[in-house]
Amino acid sequence: AHEVALLLKFNGAMAKAIADAEYVKEIEKARRDLRTLISSRNCAPLMLRLAWHDAGTYDVKTRTGGPNGSIRNARELNHAANKGLETAVLFCEDVKAKHPKVSYADLYQLAGVVAVEITGGPTIDFVPGRKDSLESPAEGRLPDAKQGASHIREIFYRMGLSDRDIVALSGGHTLGKAHRDRSDFEGQWTKDPFKFDNSYFVELLKGESKDLLKLPTDKALVEDPMFRKYVELYAKDEDAFFKDYATSHKKLSELGFSLK
Ligand code: HEM
Repeated sequence: AHEVALLLKFNGAMAKAIADAEYVKEIEKARRDLRTLISSRNCAPLMLRLAWHDAGTYDVKTRTGGPNGSIRNARELNHAANKGLETAVLFCEDVKAKHPKVSYADLYQLAGVVAVEITGGPTIDFVPGRKDSLESPAEGRLPDAKQGASHIREIFYRMGLSDRDIVALSGGHTLGKAHRDRSDFEGQWTKDPFKFDNSYFVELLKGESKDLLKLPTDKALVEDPMFRKYVELYAKDEDAFFKDYATSHKKLSELGFSLK
């Protein structure tokens, strides 16, 4: 009986290892399809924002929210902060249809990683295995762009992230633009919104500009001395920014996620 039990256990472990290996293969195929999708639709900024908004609802105390695919839920997608992301969710459906085994949670985080990579940013380590949920947190967990340093800290500390993570991740605004009909703000942060580099920090230190956007929350990063330290570092040292960004983005993409 002992030998039979051992054999069954071994079979179970083998079956799991095979399933895991198959899943990783699907992830790699989905990664290639995301590269094609994102470059042909030129939607890297939107995809990065999708990944961030799915993950950025995490609450470390209650272990709710986070990168679990719940942003596809109409109720959450209709939150004011998510305006415009319907398109990103829709684009991802094409990839999901081809790789149904890949969870939405993994798909959206993979899209964020691919968006950074194909616009010239750092390679971000991607560990698959996130579980999907349709439980959406109440509205109001994402940051309000009209506020300042203490609000940003409150929001990111709730996720379990640090000042260094806050500044590094804000560098995501090196990509994309704000659209009046989505957020009441208009304009891009950098001269080339499809190139992932440290120009967001360089522009922040230059101060007001008539062509480029600075949200109140962006300005808070140069006004607060603890934040400013990192802004100055990243503006003068792109390698330091890429290294920290890759670390912080991985953390964001894995909030509340552990392989068991
Ligand atoms: C866009 C706010 C942090 C990535 C935006 C927009 C706002 C905003 C108001 C404009 C949306 C629109 O009108 O289309 C904030 C605030 C943050 C924050 C208040 C934190 C204090 C982040 C982080 C990332 C990120 C951490 C990624 C790591 C982006 C990207 C866009 C964007 C890529 C451009 C989207 C596009 O071009 O369609 N953000 N954001 N943001 N955000 Fe953030």
